[in-house]
Amino acid sequence: GQGRLWGGRFAGGPAEAMFALSKSTQFDWRLARHDLAGSRAHARALYRAELLTADELKELLNGIDRLDEQVANGEFVPAAGDEDVHGALERGLIELLGPELGGRLRAGRSRNDQIATLIRLWLREELQVIADGVAQVVGALHGQATELLGVPMPGRTHLQHAQPVLVSHHLLAHAWPLLRDLDRIADLLRRLDESPYGSAALAGTSLGLDPQAVAADLGFGTSVANSIDGTAARDLTAEAAFVLAQIGIDLSRVSEEVILWSTYEFGFVTLADEWSTGSSIMPQKKNPDVAELARGKSGRLIGNLTGLLATLKGLPLAYNRDLQEDKEPVFDSVDQLRILLPAVAGLLGTLTFHTERMAELAPQGFSLATDVADWLVRQRVPFARAHEIAGAAVRYCEERGVELQDLTVSDIARISPELGPEVLQVLSVSGSIDARDGRGGTATARVSEQLSEAAERLHEL
Ligand code: ARG
Repeated sequence: GQGRLWGGRFAGGPAEAMFALSKSTQFDWRLARHDLAGSRAHARALYRAELLTADELKELLNGIDRLDEQVANGEFVPAAGDEDVHGALERGLIELLGPELGGRLRAGRSRNDQIATLIRLWLREELQVIADGVAQVVGALHGQATELLGVPMPGRTHLQHAQPVLVSHHLLAHAWPLLRDLDRIADLLRRLDESPYGSAALAGTSLGLDPQAVAADLGFGTSVANSIDGTAARDLTAEAAFVLAQIGIDLSRVSEEVILWSTYEFGFVTLADEWSTGSSIMPQKKNPDVAELARGKSGRLIGNLTGLLATLKGLPLAYNRDLQEDKEPVFDSVDQLRILLPAVAGLLGTLTFHTERMAELAPQGFSLATDVADWLVRQRVPFARAHEIAGAAVRYCEERGVELQDLTVSDIARISPELGPEVLQVLSVSGSIDARDGRGGTATARVSEQLSEAAERLHEL
């Protein structure tokens, strides 16, 4: 078959629709330069196995470099008849060097080990870029948390006022999952450090090529231990899709809060002009589109992961063409996060927090009730009864339309004989916050420590 990587045993070419189905250059071309890097390493392996002379190697490497330039500057692109990135580049090399030399490079390798290697090379680079983007978001959260240290807000469970917390504590609670995502990336990069090159179609090669040397040439720590696994496994691609989806989910959760906080009813934040959008009809609008796109795209990232997992389920060993479907989902997840991460970092880093409003709401909704119960426990009242008494205090307040911190000494006496006037001292937001002073707690001193710990972690990752 002319220009195809196979065809010797075929009397005719593929049907048009067969070719259209098979073709992957429209998405795998982005791996072209990695494919050429693989070709350089493979050429050197062929030379070491004495399957190429020194002159042939030199000429081949020259050709690969020229082709690489043409790929980089867009001079060489896939033709309509090219099936995939590998075939297109072999055609390009043969056009430059002739079929005698250009046709030698395919010995001892298969598109199966090539593609498995290329996706790893690509993931290693892209995950680094994604990690930088995640670090920017963590930096934005950390920057705000540093500036806002000391400002209280209502902490919520079930979206209901629960206990006062520091805004910084809350913001850092969004930073930690992202720091763990960075840790996940670092961990995955360690697993991605094995090269499948040399696995060939599935069983390895009979040509005496050294997979370890090719691995080292390509910057991998080692080569895969099992050539069948090397060509057929896609768990690492799926893991990448998971980490990317998890990052999307973590961005979505903080985004949802920004959306709520920027509503008229909350009034906690104002979005910067440059990170919000207007309405084509309503002149007053300032919309949190960045946050909404983050929330929306996270659904797409989950879809990419689940689609890939479904493709892999039940696939027998070794390579099956189904595996060609692994690339678009993970390419898309990376593309989406590359766009999204800087925007979310921009959005978060430029939020204006309305600290008086947040502080004012912090004690409302009886969020100091636990402090009443805890005060009773310190007076040796069993917690079950303390809970009852604090609940009675809430009911008392609710009936009179006041908050716990508004109670007077005579109110206290009326609620329960076990409550003394000293309880009024704990009924303050700052008292409530600074009393929670165990590691990880919302006390100002602890959150200040947490800021350092998060900064250190960010530095390490
Ligand atoms: N394009 C394929 C993929 O992405 C690699 C080529 C392997 N094709 C084959 N017929 N063995 O997985």
